[in-house]
Amino acid sequence: MCGIIGYTGVKGAQEIMLDALEILEYRGYDSAGIAVCGEDSCVRIRKCAGRVKDLRLLCEKDGILGTCGIGHTRWATHGGVSDANAHPHRFGKVTVTHNGIVENYRDLVQRYRLEERLQSQTDSEVAAAVLDHFYSGDPLAAIRKTVLKLKGTFALSIMFEDIPGTIFAVRNVSPIVIARAQGGSMLASDVTVLGQYSKEYFVLPEFYVAVLKAGGVELYDMAGETAEPEWLTVNWDVDRSGKGGYPFYMEKEIMEQPQVIRETVLPRIQGGIPDLSGDGIPDSLLADCTRICVVACGTAMHAGLVGKALMQSLVRIHMDVELASEFMYTDVIVDEETLVIAISQSGETIDTLEAVKHAKKNGAKTLAIVNVRGASVARASDYVIYTNAGPEIAVASTKAYTTQLAVLYLLTGRMAYVRGSFGEEEAKAFAGELMRVPEVMQKVLDRREEIHYIARSILNAQDVFMMGRGLDHAILLEGSLKLKEISYIHSEAYASGELKHGTIALITEDTPVVAVVTQDKVKSKEFSNIKEVQSRGAGVILFIKETFGLEKDAVWDSVFMLPAMEDGFMVMPASAALQLLAYYVSLDKGLDVDKPRNLAKVVTVE
Ligand code: G6P
Repeated sequence: MCGIIGYTGVKGAQEIMLDALEILEYRGYDSAGIAVCGEDSCVRIRKCAGRVKDLRLLCEKDGILGTCGIGHTRWATHGGVSDANAHPHRFGKVTVTHNGIVENYRDLVQRYRLEERLQSQTDSEVAAAVLDHFYSGDPLAAIRKTVLKLKGTFALSIMFEDIPGTIFAVRNVSPIVIARAQGGSMLASDVTVLGQYSKEYFVLPEFYVAVLKAGGVELYDMAGETAEPEWLTVNWDVDRSGKGGYPFYMEKEIMEQPQVIRETVLPRIQGGIPDLSGDGIPDSLLADCTRICVVACGTAMHAGLVGKALMQSLVRIHMDVELASEFMYTDVIVDEETLVIAISQSGETIDTLEAVKHAKKNGAKTLAIVNVRGASVARASDYVIYTNAGPEIAVASTKAYTTQLAVLYLLTGRMAYVRGSFGEEEAKAFAGELMRVPEVMQKVLDRREEIHYIARSILNAQDVFMMGRGLDHAILLEGSLKLKEISYIHSEAYASGELKHGTIALITEDTPVVAVVTQDKVKSKEFSNIKEVQSRGAGVILFIKETFGLEKDAVWDSVFMLPAMEDGFMVMPASAALQLLAYYVSLDKGLDVDKPRNLAKVVTVE
C-alpha cells in the first residue's frame, strides 16, 4: 500500500516521477503528490486527493522545475482522503514520503508537543516532525535517532531543505528498491516500476540508510559505516510492462498466461520429470516433511487451496492452508517437520512475511513461491521458487495466480516422485499434461468473445452464487473473488453440497448461478445440486469439461465448453474462463478494471 518514488539526477524530476507514479498506482490511488527541490534549492510540494492524473493536471498548471524530488501515491490508513493528508509532508526543514504505519504516532505527538503544529492527521507527518526535531545538520544522525523512536513499519524517503540534490531513504519491513537510472539515482517501492528504467537494482536492507545523489548511491549501516549494496537483476522483460495494445493491463495479463506458464514450467522439467534442482530445492526438503502448511492472502491463498487438493490426493500428505493474517493468532501447529509454503505475488504482503518469520521461529522449513525477485518474503524464506510471471500491474491477479498454480503442480509432481507416490512413468505423464496447459488455455483465450457474450447476462445482477465441489469449488473461490473485486457484484462461491444448509434461502430467479463441472468423480452430485437451485428459479451459467456432455432435457442460461485435460488440470482452463467472465462484466459496466475501488495490489499493512 502506498507507492513511493524518488529521483535525483540531471533530468526533470517532476516528469520522471509523474510517469513512475502512474505505474505505481496499483499500490494505492486515493491521493498523490510530489516534492521537488527547485533550482533555487527550495523544496516545493504539489499534492491532491485523487489520482495521479489529477496531480498531473495540477503540475501542468503550476509545475516545479528541478532535478531532485520524491513522490507518493497513497492508500489511506491514518487520516482520511484529503489534500492535507496526501504526501509528501513537510515539517521544518524535512520533507518525507512514507509507506507503512507508525504505530506509536500518538505517543510521539505528545512527547514532542506536536499537537498544534501538524497540518495533517497522518502518522507520516509525525515521522517528519521527529526527524526535524533531531536534525541539526547531520542527516544520518537525525535518521538514526528517529528510527529508534518509531514503532511499526516504514519506508521513508527524505529530503532536507539545506542538502539540495540529495535523497535519504530508510526502511523497516516496508520495501524500498534503488537503482542507477535516468542519468541519476532512483528509489521506488518496488521493482515493477524501477524495472522500466534499469535492469540492475538493490533492495535497501532494513535499518540501513541510502543516500542518493545524481552521481551515485551510498549505503550506511546504523553505526554510520559504509556498506556494499547487493545488486540484483530484474527477472522480466521491460516490454512486458506496457498495456501492449489492450485497453487494460488485466486483459493483457490474462492473455499472457500461456506464455508465462510455459516459461515457468519448461525449465523445470528435466528428462520428462518435474525437477526443482535449478531453484536449489533439495529433494530431502520434499521427502522429509510430514506436513505442509501454506500461508498466503487473497488470490495467493486460493492458489494454496488448489495445491492442497492436488497434494493431498496425489502425494497423500497432510496439508493445511492458512490465511497469513490469522496464522500467528490461531495457534497453528508448525514444527521442525512442517514445510511452510508462503505464496505471494509481490513478496511484500506483510501478513505473509510475518507468518514466514513466525514459522521459522517455530523451527519449520520455509519455501516461498514469489513473483518479484529479491522481495521480502523470498529473502525471509529458506528456499524460493520464482513464478516468472513478469510484472503484474492490474490489481486483480490473473497470471500471477496461474503461475503460482503451475509451481504448485511442479511441486506436487516432484514430491509425488521423490516420496514414491509416482513411479517414473506416472511422473512423466503428469509433467506431460502440465506442459499441455499453455496450449489448452490458449483455446479458452481464443474463444473469449463467447465468454464476453455470457458476461452480459450477469451485468445487472445484485448477487451471484457460484457452485462446485472439490477442485471445482477451489477454482470458484478465486473466480468469485475476481468478479466481486472488479465488478462490485456481490458473489459467493459455495461448495455445492453446502448450499442447502442455509444459503439456498437466498436463491431466487434474480440470482444467477455460475456452476463449474470438471471433475468426473463429483459430476453427478454437482448436477443434482444444480437442479436444486434451478428448481428455485435460478438461471445457471455452466462451465463444463467438453468431454462430459450435457443431459438432453437440461436447460441452461449459457454453457461454455471447457477444452479437456486430465481432471486434475482442469483448474487451468477453467480459471482463464472465470477471469474473462469477471473482466468482461467489469469492462461492460464501464468500470476502471485495473484499479478497483478501495483495493491496493500490494498490502504492506496488517
Ligand atoms: C492484495 C491484492 C490481491 C492479492 C493479495 C495478496 O489484496 O489486491 O490481488 O491476492 O493482496 O498479495 P500477494 O502479493 O501476497 O500475492
